[in-house]
Amino acid sequence: MPLTRKAYRAAILHSIADPAEVGIEASYEYFEDGLLVVDNGQISALGHASELLASLPADIEITHYQDALITPGFIDTHIHLPQTGMVGAYGEQLLDWLNTYTFPCESQFADQAHAEEVAEIFIKELLRNGTTTALVFGSVHPQSVNAFFEAAEKLDLRMIAGKVMMDRNAPDYLTDTAESSYLESKALIERWHGKGRLHYAVTPRFAPTSTPEQLTLAGQLLSEYPDLYMQTHISENLQEVEWVKELFPERKGYLDVYDHYQLLGERSVFAHGVHLCDDECARLAQTGSAVAFCPTSNLFLGSGLFNLPMAEKHKLNVGLGTDVGGGTSFSLLQTLNEAYKIMQLQGARLSPFKSLYLATLGGARALRLEERIGTLQPGTDADFLVLDYNATPLLSYRLKQSKSIAETLFVLMTLGDDRTVAQTYAAGNLVHQR
Ligand code: GUN
Ligand code: ZN
Repeated sequence: MPLTRKAYRAAILHSIADPAEVGIEASYEYFEDGLLVVDNGQISALGHASELLASLPADIEITHYQDALITPGFIDTHIHLPQTGMVGAYGEQLLDWLNTYTFPCESQFADQAHAEEVAEIFIKELLRNGTTTALVFGSVHPQSVNAFFEAAEKLDLRMIAGKVMMDRNAPDYLTDTAESSYLESKALIERWHGKGRLHYAVTPRFAPTSTPEQLTLAGQLLSEYPDLYMQTHISENLQEVEWVKELFPERKGYLDVYDHYQLLGERSVFAHGVHLCDDECARLAQTGSAVAFCPTSNLFLGSGLFNLPMAEKHKLNVGLGTDVGGGTSFSLLQTLNEAYKIMQLQGARLSPFKSLYLATLGGARALRLEERIGTLQPGTDADFLVLDYNATPLLSYRLKQSKSIAETLFVLMTLGDDRTVAQTYAAGNLVHQR
């Protein structure tokens, strides 16, 4: 294959460490007039344009973005494909919301054509919002995952997904059995896991909708294949937490249910964790598990306020999740806008550089993919964004007052959304142009 080399010139910013560990100043690199060089879908160089240009051949194709900021692609560590059509469902908290809106909406994915149509819409929406990698819940139907991976594969995206396993406490039209969920998951793993940039996640919906037999088989799948992911929900809503205690009285608490079935580990991502206690955070950290912080969902469903400082205290890996359709936006910029307010309500601060970390490198670490995505380090996948400082009249006017990259970044996260994402690149290919 001939070498395709391209370069992109703009202001460039990326996270290189967690501000909670190294302090804010050492957590990022910023090039006011930067250059990003891409060779065959991978980043080959990053630096100041003035320094790098001299080392490049005179005929290299350079795209110059004015009034724009290049960042790594965003990483959404928790989202539901089959809830795309029900974002903004009125009035209920988690358990009634599931029964009233979610289960009927997900049932439509029994139809292959519907699954394919929504998968296309969903992936377009991710890319319009600058999300280049997501950890995705399908529905109980294997066709939801096939449709999603087929669409992702065409664009060479790095994506992770799994078929939901749920064999009780849900309508008959939406349940599998312990055995069928095992066999269907296995077939999807064989077909997709490790194909191109795709990965599979074993996906028990949450403890209340799985029998002990099903949770046992989920753990068995994890032991049968290397590098599989596991995704589920935990401690999102107080009624849910009580219900889990009733269903599993022999366990010490919610996390202990998953622990007992050997579902914790370095590729396990637990959504929400709003009501986790200190010991549970410690156990998650000890096993290398991660939590997906889902601000818009936690507010919209009235679930509660995630305690990010407690997670940091335990050095727990935290990524950011939109949790569409409990969440109300595909935009990780808007998700960070709400994350900031959740910290404010707890008397804590979320710096723009911590926010950038959560949306990029923090998410990559939660997914154990920091060698491939989440930064603009040479050698990693060329998944990056161009954010437009003039996306809206207000953003344009506001950013003209900005005195620093910290202020610019914070305003982008407060006023920004899909309109702010002018271009999205995945594996060096332009996959969204506003
Ligand atoms: N807990 C179990 N299922 C779900 C779901 O679909 N969304 C959310 N937010 N929480 C859940
Ligand atoms: Zn969810």
